[in-house]
Amino acid sequence: MAVEQPKVSLTGIKPTGEPHLGNYIGAIRPSLELTETYESIYFIADYHALTSIRDGAELARYTRSVAATWITLGLDPAKTIFYRQSDVPEIFELSWVLSCVTAKGLMNRAHAYKAARDRNAESGTKDLDAGINMGLFNYPVLMAVDILIMNTDVVPVGLDQSQHVEYSADIAGTFNHLYGKDFSLKVPAGIYPDGVSAKALPGTDGRKMSKSYRNTIPLFAPEKQLRKLVRGIVSDSTPVEEPKDPDTSAAFALYENFAPPEAVKEMRARLEAGGTGWGELKNTLFETLNTWLAPLRERHDELVAPGSELDAILADGAERARDRARPVLAGVRRAVGISAG
Ligand code: TRP
Repeated sequence: MAVEQPKVSLTGIKPTGEPHLGNYIGAIRPSLELTETYESIYFIADYHALTSIRDGAELARYTRSVAATWITLGLDPAKTIFYRQSDVPEIFELSWVLSCVTAKGLMNRAHAYKAARDRNAESGTKDLDAGINMGLFNYPVLMAVDILIMNTDVVPVGLDQSQHVEYSADIAGTFNHLYGKDFSLKVPAGIYPDGVSAKALPGTDGRKMSKSYRNTIPLFAPEKQLRKLVRGIVSDSTPVEEPKDPDTSAAFALYENFAPPEAVKEMRARLEAGGTGWGELKNTLFETLNTWLAPLRERHDELVAPGSELDAILADGAERARDRARPVLAGVRRAVGISAG
């Protein structure tokens, strides 16, 4: 009897900022949970970040910090394949081939590209493509390659990425239609968050925590900065002694995500009864976060430092990723008529 292989799950992380609490709840934790059920592949999509980051030192720093963050938070490089996209040249070779089977019209309809054009239209810019680079336009093809070159079954991502995953399936379908008698690509499916992780975590201003709102709480900020950020979370001016509605509070929403259920229940009751101020809630939230993060912060900083074991981890991941990518690229090259012999 054939033994069933575990399915392959793959996801890419774009290094465009310091990882924050919202990334942890929305992406890192749910992705790490999937390693129980799937053969997991994770990579840092540094060439995707290049579509928007213009400062080389900054891109290098974010790439290292994001990689260190995932390892610090529990990614086991021995049980997963973990690499930097830019270390796998096969991805870029396949990227050209798949560009040649992808309809330009499909890219014209891509959400991120359309949104960039809409912004130009709204601001009255005549050339709707002003400020849009080809990397942004081609982004979905590169993402399809990331997925298809690893023979991926499922792609766990946020809902905002669903079109990209559908495009990847679409591009695989086109390739298979054209060349499928010689070689075919596996058609992937997205898996999307439900429940807690689907609910956006609020940032310090109460809106969804997001780098673009500048309201994030970085996971590995120094203790002093963490305290300052937590103390600065918006709250209303209900006096200490009055009853409060915890569900209107960003600090409470954060507390709910990071404190044990019993502690959350008790805090809810105290806020509702009156006599507990938002300041006290924030102090408790800070303590909770800091108790969890302090030892991890040290580990993260160690890994980020130049010459740490992170380099060996990524080098080993790149080897394993390339071993997986090579036969797919070879099959594609043969099928399209570009081969070594
Ligand atoms: N576009 C994804 C994001 O912005 C990052 C990404 C790049 C990705 N390649 C991928 C995600 C492949 C899943 C699979 O979050």
